[in-house]
Amino acid sequence: MGLFTGKKPSKAGKTGNTAALPRHIAIIMDGNGRWAKKRGLPRTAGHAVGVETFRTIATYCKNIGIDYLTIYAFSTENWKRPKEEVEAIMGLLEKYLYEAIEKMEKDGIRLRVMGDTAPLSEKLKKLIAETEMISDRLNGFQVNLCLNYGGRAEIVRAAQKYAEDYKSGKVSRLTEEAFSEYMYSAGIPDPDLIIRPSGELRFSNFLLWQSAYSEYYFTDVLWPDFSEKELDKAIESYKKRSRRFGAIESK
Ligand code: FPP
Repeated sequence: MGLFTGKKPSKAGKTGNTAALPRHIAIIMDGNGRWAKKRGLPRTAGHAVGVETFRTIATYCKNIGIDYLTIYAFSTENWKRPKEEVEAIMGLLEKYLYEAIEKMEKDGIRLRVMGDTAPLSEKLKKLIAETEMISDRLNGFQVNLCLNYGGRAEIVRAAQKYAEDYKSGKVSRLTEEAFSEYMYSAGIPDPDLIIRPSGELRFSNFLLWQSAYSEYYFTDVLWPDFSEKELDKAIESYKKRSRRFGAIESK
């Protein structure tokens, strides 16, 4: 059975005050463009600093004992951006993955990509395959990079796959747990805490299925300025909350 859906909360997700660390944090990286504009820089400069912030936050998450960090790096809608910006983002991804291959074993960071990788360049696909192969040999902290990812597209893809399996007699009754196994996130606990920096108050098609009982944290800080201290604030806010998963407060 899958480890996630609201039915099987992570260790931090028992009914009542969480107190414990979130096991899985997800982040909508936002505000790179505005950060650059404020400084009279091209938007791509904001993305480059955004990657550095991501590295800092991933390392910090690992060090404080978070098990999973899921990051929204490129959405199914981001292709609508100017060609030069898309190319710059793809270039940053290549560079990041290339460096990750060199260091992930030493850093103890596993990587998995969530999203439709088919339209990505052959070079990126190769790098992704390589990082996933290395990750298979590793244990512990895992980063999920959402690339060409959309929550609705993920649900439609899962429904199609389920329909195929149903037709071939591989599966019968559909349950929430069974359906979860068709998501990119199969085997990963639902995010306990989802952070959106930059002051935008929307979900933007991120982890629609998995976020059913996630706690949200919004901040005006732009992603390139996001720091370990900001993450601490988000975690402190999370720890004070009472997660009930539809039930009532436990005594
Ligand atoms: C959001 O800021 C950022 C993006 C849509 C792209 C971010 C992707 C990267 C930095 C590529 C590499 C990523 C990793 C993790 C290796 P925005 O441009 O929407 O900001 P704005 O709302 O201020 O315009």
